Order: sequence, then structure tokens, then C-alpha cells
Amino acid sequence: MEGPSERSNHTFETEAIHAGEEPDLDPGGTGDLVSPIHLSSTFAMDETGNPSHGYKYSRLGNPTREALDRRVATLSGADHAMTFASGMAAIATTCLTALESGDHVVAFDGIYGGTKVFFDEYLADHFDVTVEYVDATDPEAVADAVVPETALFWMESPTNPLLKLCDIEAIAAIADGHDVLLAVDNTFATPYFQRPLALGADVSVHSTTKYLNGHTDSIGGAIVTDDDAFADRVRFVQEYALGAMMPPFDCYLVLRGSKTLPLRMRQHEANATRVARYLSEHEKVTAVHYPGLETHPQHDLAARQMDGFGGIVSFEIDGGAAEARAFVESLDLFTLAVSLGSVESLIEHPVSMSASYVPEEERLASGITDSLIRAPIGVESADDLIADLERGLEHL
Ligand SMILES: Cc1ncc(COP(=O)(O)O)c(C=O)c1O
Repeated sequence: MEGPSERSNHTFETEAIHAGEEPDLDPGGTGDLVSPIHLSSTFAMDETGNPSHGYKYSRLGNPTREALDRRVATLSGADHAMTFASGMAAIATTCLTALESGDHVVAFDGIYGGTKVFFDEYLADHFDVTVEYVDATDPEAVADAVVPETALFWMESPTNPLLKLCDIEAIAAIADGHDVLLAVDNTFATPYFQRPLALGADVSVHSTTKYLNGHTDSIGGAIVTDDDAFADRVRFVQEYALGAMMPPFDCYLVLRGSKTLPLRMRQHEANATRVARYLSEHEKVTAVHYPGLETHPQHDLAARQMDGFGGIVSFEIDGGAAEARAFVESLDLFTLAVSLGSVESLIEHPVSMSASYVPEEERLASGITDSLIRAPIGVESADDLIADLERGLEHL
């Protein structure tokens, strides 16, 4: 694959291994190939009180976090990346940096449920910010929702759990025309399969908990941008207002995990494609949602906007909530758990798990039916995964 941006001299695969982790070959340096985990909360000053080695206090700057920030920025083809204690911390910091009381947000109606809770039960209640949800699969719906107070478009593509897409380039043009900031949650696609800034977005956010780390052992998030002024404001909010930076040990884990991001994403996608094709031919499966299938309503957009279709497949089975629950509980290799983006295959029934708090009418309107099942496909053997699904479907 090509490099993540024109600024990069290397391919994505090479940058994933080396960016941010150049060995320290200076006299007195240790030559470590792998970034040490700098756990110190504070750093020694010289007698004038100046930081003698460039660092003062770990909330304000930490060498392990800076290494990860450089890795994420390089892979995203961006000038700036800031890493956080969770994806939600990155999302909240983006919004609290971008918005003022009285502002209006236009959001994709398919966004991650946690973001929606933050918008509805925190931003709206405490900051007098109004959020309007639209079906952003149609860019005109985004344009139509703009009012003079609109300050932010909040998009996600593909969405969780229905794998809907929005046309980032078209929505970026609308944002530009109205002087609105466009933020895109790129957690599902990762920078390997999609780079929103190159498509015109101002900000891209990630839950690094998912594919960027990829091994189910760290919670984290990232904000990525080319906008120097916005990056400065984010750093101020992170360092002096909200904190919520990624701890050094987690930075090390994401530095380690992200080295294999290209290998893992290719395998996630190959497995997801086989699983999606298998499910779409099964008589007990009534719908399959995967952007890589030609039957996906936005398959052409996915092929144009993304470099790969990702690793998450959602599907509906013949039956209701009881059958869906029985099915997900009957599997051996797929672990019944929320989250996604790790080497292990997971499975969940949104109605009983991640979307259980969403009122029935609202979730049905957004397409989350009783029999919807979400399966983040891992990197095990696709043969074994399909055999597990086959056993489960036979018992239905
Ligand atoms: C698309 C998306 N964005 C953001 C988040 C929140 O990330 P975190 O759990 O790391 O706070 C999630 C979590 O599932 C997600 O799926």
C-alpha cells in the first residue's frame, strides 16, 4: 500500500512499524528499538527550574505518549495526533474544544451509542448544545439541517452496528460552505482503510481500544487533525482542563499493537468477506450488512472512499430476540462480548447488550431489529469461524 500521505517517504506498512520509534542513537542514548515505557509522573529540572530533558510533568508531555502521537499522526497522514484515556475522552475533548454554549450539531443518526448518550445527556443538558440527528447516508439531509448556530458535523463511517456509510468528501464540501467543523469517527475503518482528513474532514477521532491496539488489553482514544489552531486548543484542553491522557503503559501497548495493523486489517477483511458471503447464502439469515457485499446499498461509495471494507459483519436471522439470543449463546469460537477490533472474533446481540438502553421505537427506527446480530470478525481461521456459525444456525 502507498504511504499514508504525500509527506510520508514510506509505505503504510513500514510507517506502522517505525513511525515514532526511531532508536535513540545520540551519545548517552540507549539505542532501544522499542520505546521505553516512561512511567515517571514528574521530571527533574535544572537549578533554574527549567526542564533539563524537555519534559516537566507527565500530564503535559510524556516521551512514550509522544512516540504514540507521532505514530498515529503519521499513519493518519496528519500533522497532529493527541492520544487519550479512552475513545470517549477523545470524543468529549473534541466536542468541548469545538463547541460553545448555544451551538448546534448535526450528527449522523447511526453514530456510536456512547457518543449519542454524551450528546443527549451531557452536552444538551449541561451546555445548551442542541444536536440534530439526520440520515447522513444522504448528504442533502446534512445540508438541510444546517442553521446559523451549527458549529459541528459529527459523522461516523461505517457506523456501528449497521455499517452505514456517509460520503465524507460531499459532507466536507457542505461543511466548508457553512464554515462548520467536520469530525469523523474513524474507529471502524482505521487509518489503514480510510483517511478522513484526505477526504476533507477537519478532525478524525478513534477509539484505539479497537483495531489500532487490536489485542483487547487497553482502552484509549485519539484525535487527529491538520488544523494547527485546533490542535493547540485540544492540547490546552487535554493538558490544563480535562486531562484524560493515555497512560504510558497503554501508549506502549498501542505502539506495539499498531505495528501489525496492516496485517491484521487485511486478515479481518478477508475473514469478514468470507463470513458475509457465507451468511448471505444461508436460508436462516434474512439480511447481511457488510459494505464489501455488492448488495450493500453503499457498496460503490465504500469502494471509492475506503481502501478496504473492514472486519465487522452484522446480520439478521429468521426469528426474533429469543432466537437471536439463543444463537449468540450457542457459539463456541465467537465470544459473547461487546467491543470490536481485536484479534478474537466476538459476537453480540445489540437489543440485549449494547443497545439495550435505547427505547424500542427509537432503535427500530434506526434499523436495530430484534434479530440483529453484530459479529466483529477476528483473525482466526475463517474455516473455523464459519464452522462455528454453521453449528449455531443448524441448532436454530
Ligand atoms: C465507533 C466507536 N467510537 C467510539 C467508541 C468509544 O470508545 P471507548 O470505548 O474506547 O471509549 C466506540 C466504542 O465501542 C465505538 O465503537
